[in-house]
Amino acid sequence: MHSVARVSDEVRDREQAAPLPPRALALRAGVPDPADVIASYRAVGRDSRTTILQLLGSDGVAFSFEGARVLDFGCGSGKVMRHFLPEAEVCELWGCDIDARSVDWINAELDPPLHAFTNREAPPLEQPSESFDLVWSVSVFTHLTDHWAGWLAELHRVLRPGGLAIISFLGGAMYEVWTGASWDPDRIGMTVLDHGQDWELGGPTVFHSPWWLREHWGRAFEIVQMREGSAPREHGLVLLRSRSDVEVTPALLERIDPAREPREVAALRQQVRLLQGESARLRAQRDALARADARRLPRRVAGRLGQIRRRH
Ligand SMILES: C[S@@+](CC[C@H](N)C(=O)[O-])C[C@H]1O[C@@H](n2cnc3c(N)ncnc32)[C@H](O)[C@@H]1O
Repeated sequence: MHSVARVSDEVRDREQAAPLPPRALALRAGVPDPADVIASYRAVGRDSRTTILQLLGSDGVAFSFEGARVLDFGCGSGKVMRHFLPEAEVCELWGCDIDARSVDWINAELDPPLHAFTNREAPPLEQPSESFDLVWSVSVFTHLTDHWAGWLAELHRVLRPGGLAIISFLGGAMYEVWTGASWDPDRIGMTVLDHGQDWELGGPTVFHSPWWLREHWGRAFEIVQMREGSAPREHGLVLLRSRSDVEVTPALLERIDPAREPREVAALRQQVRLLQGESARLRAQRDALARADARRLPRRVAGRLGQIRRRH
């Protein structure tokens, strides 16, 4: 096994020597400190490496990069992958993303040893079934709305039986900062804000509570470890092991069963309340714009009439 200690100097040196993406691509991947985009981009990727390796070192998990196939699903411009350059020499490390500019940048600047391919907004991936040993996905399911179940089923398909997945989620630590409301996990299941927002504006935001992840994601994966974020804005992370005793479909993952889990109903009610709040805010903005436009209109008409009179 490639130990964390053995590679740490090499990891740092290789990452420092690797080309950095243009600022726009780094920003698109999300950085906590927009005042210092590149330093923040590098630091947050380094933290992700540490957490991924800690999770892979969990009791009962024997993972080796040696000879493995690994996928970073939703890799952006390789913010996390760039910290795995030594491992990529001994394994096959792929990234995929819907953003062709990010994928092209990785293939132009970091291949070899990294490789990347573009995928569409909805599944499938053009990859054979059971062909990856590990998939990680950082800050991606935190934005996936309509296609989340299709993508989770797809990751299950491409993982070999017993393969591992590490997926980040947003829980209470981010919810309170983001919404200003207090986090009540009994009323949050999978909660979507800004549904349909463009990716260039950060996309939609999705929160998950641990019980909901166990209830839904647990149908396709054994939950090996779940870490909720505790510091404000900290993401949660879940380490999953692919189950081979079930036929995983999006419908299986999405099914709501209030008899088994009564919190489903409270969570749906809360989602409706949040949507009503969003729609009220958007309506107020639309009305304010319409009023401002109505005030400008007579001035524009008078100005145009003046121009016409002066011409004739
Ligand atoms: C917040 S960024 C995180 C990028 C990267 N994981 C990182 O940590 O830097 C979310 C990424 O998910 C990508 N994405 C969104 N929907 C996707 C999908 N259906 N398949 C693959 N990537 C997707 C976006 O293009 C974006 O690059």
